[in-house]
Amino acid sequence: MTKPVILTGIRANQDLTIGNYFGAILPIIDMAKQRSEEFQINMFIPDLHSFTTPIDHSLLNKQILDNAKLFAAAGLPLDNPNIYMYRQSYIPAHSELTVILDSFTGFGEMSRMTQFKEKSKELNDNVSVGLFNYPVLMASDILLYNAKYVPVGDDQTQHLEITRDIAQRMNKKFGDIFIVPESVPKQHEFFGNDQGLRIKDLIDPTKKMSKSDDSGRGVIFLNDDPAVAAKKIMGATTDNLAKIDFNREKQPGISNLIEILSLIRGISLDKVVNEYKGQTGYGNFKAVVASEVEVFLTDFQNRLSEVNENAIIDKLHQSERDMIPVANETLLRAQQAVGLRPKG
Ligand code: TRP
Repeated sequence: MTKPVILTGIRANQDLTIGNYFGAILPIIDMAKQRSEEFQINMFIPDLHSFTTPIDHSLLNKQILDNAKLFAAAGLPLDNPNIYMYRQSYIPAHSELTVILDSFTGFGEMSRMTQFKEKSKELNDNVSVGLFNYPVLMASDILLYNAKYVPVGDDQTQHLEITRDIAQRMNKKFGDIFIVPESVPKQHEFFGNDQGLRIKDLIDPTKKMSKSDDSGRGVIFLNDDPAVAAKKIMGATTDNLAKIDFNREKQPGISNLIEILSLIRGISLDKVVNEYKGQTGYGNFKAVVASEVEVFLTDFQNRLSEVNENAIIDKLHQSERDMIPVANETLLRAQQAVGLRPKG
C-alpha cells in the first residue's frame, strides 16, 4: 500500500440537519470519490471517542451502525476498494498506541486544548479523564495509518497540531517512527476552504442551522417528516423587499432559501436566482423550495431505509481486517522505539 492516506473520523452524531448533510457529509463523500484513485481513503467511526462525554450507552451500538448507514445512503460507494470504513474500537492498536503516546504528551499542553476547556465548562463536575485524553486518542487515529491529509474543521485544528507535535517529538527522540501529517494551512490548501455549514436557521437566518436550536422550527432534520419540513420552509423568515436576490446582508432569509434550493438541485446560486428573479411575491418561490425539500427528504429517507445492513457490516469487517495489520505495524515501531519490543 503505497498511496498517500487521507483520513477522517465520522462522528456518530444524532439529529443531523440538512445543514450537516450538505455542509459536511456530502463534501466528505465527494472528496472520497474524487480522490480515491490517487489516495487511500480511511473513513472511520471514532466509537471510543463517542462517550468521552456522558451518553446513553444502550443506544451506542445502534448509533454506530446508523452512522455508517447514513453515509451509504448519502452515496458513499461501499464497493470502492480504496475507501475503507472501520470502527476505531475494532482495531486494538488505537487504544494501545494512545497509552504509549500519553507518556510523551504534556499535561500542560493538554490543559490548553480549547475544546476540552469549553466542554469542561458545560459539564461542570462531570469531566472524565477520557475527555481530557481525547486529543491523544485522536493522534493515534491519525498516526497509526501514516495519514498525510486530515480534513479538519476549525474546532479540530488544535488537535491536529498536537498530533504533529507529539509525532515530531517522538521522531526526534527515537528516529522516524511516525509520518507527520501536513500542517493546518497545507490541509486547507489541499481541501479548499469552502467547507462548512452554510445553511442558516429558517427563523433567524443570521445564524447557522444547528440542532441546538430549541424550538426546532428553524431547523430541518434529516429524519423530519417531509411534510413537516415543507411547512417549516413555508414559515421561514423573509423580508419585505419583494425581490429574489442573493444578498446575505440585505436578504438573509431569501438568500438562505436560494442556497437550499441550489444545494438540493446541485446547481449554482446564480442559476436559481436567474430562474426566479422577476418574481415580486415570495409565496411561489417558498412553495417550490418547500416541495423540493419534501421530495429530497422523502428520497433520502427511502434510501436510508433500503440500506442493506449486512452489506454495511461486511464492509466494516473487511476494512477492519485490512487495517489491523497496517495499524499494528506502526504500533510495533512505537513499541520498539520505547523498548517494549526487541528491535527487528
Ligand atoms: N474529533 C473529530 C470530530 O469531532 C472526530 C475524530 C476523531 C477525528 N478522531 C479523528 C477526525 C481523527 C479526524 C482524524 O469531528
